[in-house]
Amino acid sequence: MPPAVHAAARALLSDPLTNKGTAFTEGERDRLNLHGPLPPHVGTLDSQIARRRRVLDGMADDFHRYAFLRELQDSNEVLFHALVHADLPRMLPLVYTPTVGAGCERFSEIWRKPRGLFLSYPNRERIDDILSDPALDRVKVIVVSDGERILGLGDQGAGGMGIPIGKLALYTACAGIHPAEVLPILLDVGTDNAGLRDDPLYVGWRNPRVRGQDYADFVERFVAAVAARWPNVLLQWEDFAGHNAHDLLGRYRDRLLSFNDDIQGTAATAVGTLLSAIARTGASLADQRIVLFGAGAAGSGVAELLVRALRAEGLDEAAARARIWAVDRDGLILSDTAKLTPSQARLAHDPAGVTGWARDADGAIGLAETVAAVKPTVLIGASGQPGTFTEAVIRTMAAGCARPVVFPLSNPVSRAEAHPADLLAWTGGRAIVGTGSPFGVAGVTQVNNVYIFPGVGLGAIAAGARTVTDGMFMAAARALGAMGGAGETLLPPIAQLRAVALRIAVVVAAAAVAEGVATVAADELTADRIATLMWTAAYA
Ligand code: NAI
Repeated sequence: MPPAVHAAARALLSDPLTNKGTAFTEGERDRLNLHGPLPPHVGTLDSQIARRRRVLDGMADDFHRYAFLRELQDSNEVLFHALVHADLPRMLPLVYTPTVGAGCERFSEIWRKPRGLFLSYPNRERIDDILSDPALDRVKVIVVSDGERILGLGDQGAGGMGIPIGKLALYTACAGIHPAEVLPILLDVGTDNAGLRDDPLYVGWRNPRVRGQDYADFVERFVAAVAARWPNVLLQWEDFAGHNAHDLLGRYRDRLLSFNDDIQGTAATAVGTLLSAIARTGASLADQRIVLFGAGAAGSGVAELLVRALRAEGLDEAAARARIWAVDRDGLILSDTAKLTPSQARLAHDPAGVTGWARDADGAIGLAETVAAVKPTVLIGASGQPGTFTEAVIRTMAAGCARPVVFPLSNPVSRAEAHPADLLAWTGGRAIVGTGSPFGVAGVTQVNNVYIFPGVGLGAIAAGARTVTDGMFMAAARALGAMGGAGETLLPPIAQLRAVALRIAVVVAAAAVAEGVATVAADELTADRIATLMWTAAYA
């Protein structure tokens, strides 16, 4: 047999998009010259799933399961996605949060095969060349990070690539975006994590982070190259540090079909879950008094979407903003508070309205003082400060309302503002609780962005949207809130995430049409039509 025939067979087996492993049929083995490299047994997708499950069952811990699944993804994508799809509740925590955190921290240690693109600062002149690879012709969705604020784990440099890889696995699992159509990208502009720079195994660029104008120029070069290569691509900004997250979203959301999941995805997830919670209490959103603890990327995004939802209930802008009190590191945000970010300034209350309020030892109106004065019905934490929802704060809140809604959203588990079991104990079980991380406490909802971003992405692509508007996120939040959950939980079970993504996609596409940013007609955007766009893992 000529060498080229052997080489073609090897290429087929080593490309994760074409490899079927033992599931190549006898006919395929004859035709493609695969006898020899494969053992004689001819398997099926189901038997391959069973084999991988047995391996996972025998492994010592979730980190090793994560590493095993990453290798499987790099050797056979259909099998990887079929395995994930077959048991989403078990697989999601392995391919994404919480295990992906360790996957990022130990990224260099488990580095095996290339996946996605590393665009490093020293290679900035080559970005167009790198993107021109014909293997990337089908790309429809990009998730990009610069690795600076990975979950609550800070700067992970090139190891932050674990996040785009994980999020895109969820795009495929939940929204059915084909694996050949997704592209994880890590912008490697260095790292300020000295431990990583000193680690001899570190695979990233060993340099302090490039900042300022040089950073802005680099991202600009990246965006221009992406827009030229894939004019209709959907790009998700992921785990950028707060200052860059807002800047990049503001600069590029109208130039590139893009959104920031930490700001907008979190907002829609939190607001959707809140709408579901409020439906349980029988009150309206306009009746709520909302205290937000931590007004960074996530917190300010939640606040702005809440303002939008309140305005939709008939409140004017000022009345809507008056329903929300934001507390950050220097206490209640007031218009005379020093060093407010632009997004915090929009949440500031008039100091004249709080003259009689109690103050803490530092003279600030802290969380305890704010809760005592506001008597909130809703308390949302996005501060990354563990234990800050104290028993005293929660008991004060619970004294003022029958069903306090408390969402300690900070991740990972070690960063949560309170343990959900404590929140239930301190309120005699009256609290309606949602957490960012999974705690395994019965009746507590996990407020995870995976409920929103796959559907938003699918809906935007289906509609051929030119931009992702706030109205599309509002529609997604409302649809999520209306789905409800089983028993005490506020959202549908993880096993139903594919149906959730489709429902969200339908309303997001409709919102794109209604807001005039769609290029596809409304009658092309029915649930049946959008469902046909969703790939299911199976061998062709
Ligand atoms: P960020 O750094 O932009 O914001 C954190 C904010 O908390 C800042 O404004 C900071 O000044 C404030 N803060 C710090 N110490 C404080 C204190 N002692 N008292 C009051 N405020 C304080 O970070 P980002 O992206 O907003 O994330 C915040 C947290 O929310 C993280 O733990 C993250 O994991 C979590 N998060 C959860 C999500 C979810 O559950 N679906 C999604 C996105 C973020």
